[in-house]
Order: sequence, then C-alpha cells, then structure tokens
Amino acid sequence: MLAQKRILLIIGGGIAAYKSLDLIRRLSERGAAVRVVMTEAAQHFVTPLAAGALSHDRVFTDLFDREAEHDIGHIRLSREADLIIVAPATADLLAKMAHGFADDLATCVLLASDKKVLVAPAMNPQMWAHAATRRNAARLAADGVAFVGPNAGAMAERGENGPGRMAEPLEIVAAAARLLVPSGPLTGRHILVTSGPTHEPIDPVRYIANRSSGKQGHAIAAAAARAGAQVTLVSGPVNLPDPIGVEVRHVESARDMLAAVEAALPADAAVFAAAVADWRAASAAGEKMKKDGNAIPPLALAENPDILATVSHLSNRRPRLVVGFAAETENVIAYAQAKRARKGCDWIVANDVSQRSGIPGGVMGGDSNAVHFITAEAVEHWPEASKTEVAERLVARIAATFGPLETVS
Ligand code: C5P
Repeated sequence: MLAQKRILLIIGGGIAAYKSLDLIRRLSERGAAVRVVMTEAAQHFVTPLAAGALSHDRVFTDLFDREAEHDIGHIRLSREADLIIVAPATADLLAKMAHGFADDLATCVLLASDKKVLVAPAMNPQMWAHAATRRNAARLAADGVAFVGPNAGAMAERGENGPGRMAEPLEIVAAAARLLVPSGPLTGRHILVTSGPTHEPIDPVRYIANRSSGKQGHAIAAAAARAGAQVTLVSGPVNLPDPIGVEVRHVESARDMLAAVEAALPADAAVFAAAVADWRAASAAGEKMKKDGNAIPPLALAENPDILATVSHLSNRRPRLVVGFAAETENVIAYAQAKRARKGCDWIVANDVSQRSGIPGGVMGGDSNAVHFITAEAVEHWPEASKTEVAERLVARIAATFGPLETVS
C-alpha cells in the first residue's frame, strides 16, 4: 500500500529523532517517496544531511527559504503528499498543532494541509500525562489526526519509565499503510485489468505488435484503485508509468498475459482492455534470423489463446463481472454485440477505430475515446470524453453493479 505513495515526514525535536532516520529507510524500502521537513529543534538531534542522504532529496527546514518559497513551497509540500507523518511529535509540536500555530515551516505545512496526518508522540511520561498534553491530544484526535504510540518503556532519562517512547519505525509504517488504504465504492473488491498491446516474438530482436498505447486500460486500473479496489493490472509493453496504488504485472506475449491473468484470479471483476495479438509466430527463432541470400523467410502464424473468452468460460473461477473491449472499423455495434455473446462476457465497451471516428490522435494512442457501452439488454452511446473520464464512468458502473460490500458478521 505504500508503493508510490508520497510521504512528508516532519521530524520534531526529541531524542527519538534518530529512529526517524530508520523510518525514512523503512518507508523507502516499501516504495514510498519520502520528503523530510525538520524543525529547528530536530536539527539538534539529527542532521538534515543524514535525513537527506536517506530520503534522496533535499531536506526542508526554513519557512523563509528563498529557493523553496519562491513558489510558496510550504503549500506545495503539503499538497504534494499523500500522508504527513510527524515523528517524533513532541509535546510542543502537538500543542502548536492543536491550536493552529504556524510559526515555522513544519507547523505552516501542517496548517496548510488537507491531507491525513499521523503523529507518533515521543516525550517524557510526565509531559504525556500532563493535563495540557491530554487536552491537546484529545483535540487533535477529534480533528481527525491519527496517533501511533507512544509506547511504554524505559526513557532516555535514566530511571524513568512509562508511556512516552516513540512507536518503533515498523509500527509507524504499519499505521501509515492502514491510513493509506483508500476507501470508496469498490473497497474490498479485487479488480483485474489487462492493458496495452502484446509483443509476439519472431526471433530475439523482432516481434509482432499493434498500436495500442495502454492509456485506456491504465486509466481504468487507476480509476478502480481510486475507487478503493485492490487492483491487479496485467500490462503488455507500454510507455506509461505504473498507476499509483495498483499491483502491476508486466508481460510481453499473449500467452504470458493469460498466465498472469490466471495467476491473479480470483477477482470480483475483470476488465480486458488489452489489445492482445490474435496471432503469434508459429515458431519463434532462438537466434536472430539472418538475411543471407535471397530467400525471404516465411512467417507462419499460430493462433493465440483468447484471454477474454477463456476467463468468461471458466466454470469455477469466473469473475462475477467480465468486461471486454471491441475495436472495430465498421458495423461497430452489431459486431460488438455478436462478440459479447460469442466470448461469453457480460459487457462490451466498443469503439470505432476507423479514421471516421474523428477522435484526435486516433483511439489507439490518443487521449480521448467515444465508446458504445453494450450489455445483454441495452446499448448506450457515451459521448467523446478523455480516457480517464471513460474509465471513471466504467468504474462507476462496476461499483453500481456490485453495490455495497456485504459485511460478514
Ligand atoms: O476478438 P477481439 O480481439 O476483437 O476482442 C477484443 C476483446 O477480447 C478485448 O477485450 C481483448 O482484450 C480481448 N482479447 C483477449 N485475448 C485475445 C484477443 C482479444 O483477451 N487473444
């Protein structure tokens, strides 16, 4: 859940700050991008140099930093994060947060933020038990701030014991992961998506491919993740970044794609947006084919497995909802309806990939799409929209079909 998440770590001034260096490591190991803000007090315990080396980024310390503030850096720092972690959260920082102070970079970022905030308090047990700290912590909890720790145990001060130790880095990581699980209409559902073209090798350097960019499939995976689903995206070779919050399996050929799809089951819904090559080279050469003499090598083809039809006809592990795509150049709706029946899927999203479609850049590779949404009962014509909007509309339909998750008591 932390992969590709952007975490802003605010390090406060306490002896536990040394553990925050390890926390940077633990978060980065899990794929999170960590940015660090340090208070003035924190710099008495650990150096910006150490935090910067571990986060591979500059460390922000100064509200009046001319370089960072020319574009209102404190606002950007908070907006560019998925989650803000305050660790260690000192009694002083908690007090400032509870009252909305903004007299340094850390507190300014916190006040300018609408993001989730996780605090890991660390202080002497007397300070934690003090009525003022109790009030501040209760106020923050009521404001929606999440807490992890403090734990009870030996303090840095000799002989002192009690609640006040900062939670261990891995406990903070687990708390962060829990907060980052998005919740939405598809929370608790597993959605499988295929996307992109496939590459069918002819020899080690040549392959058969098509013009699919993967933009529509990737947009569907991203939209499903934003709706709270657990998403597995099986992607052919594309020039797109992995969508945030999505488990991506990269494959090359149709046969690899089928294997990855089968391995990802069970799923509640499967959306097959990939433009899978219908044929592959009957026998791919093990070495690069040579252009010797005049003989042009014949290219014998073999049929690829139809992933959509295979999954639609599974007797035991068929997802409750199977959605196919159809790219046609003529008789778009009639062909797509016939395809829906033949392949055994529930819905078909059909588009016209002919030049007539008038979509700028063409449907394949372009950023927009005009589709016909075909079910057993009806045909809907969705107006031209961005691939992201088409994805969101499709995901909303999937969510509406499933309804709220039945809770098992
Ligand atoms: O038959 P056609 O290729 O037009 O069908 C398109 C739909 O079938 C798409 O959803 C595509 O992802 C899927 N398909 C597949 N495996 C294939 C061919 C197509 O899953 N070998």
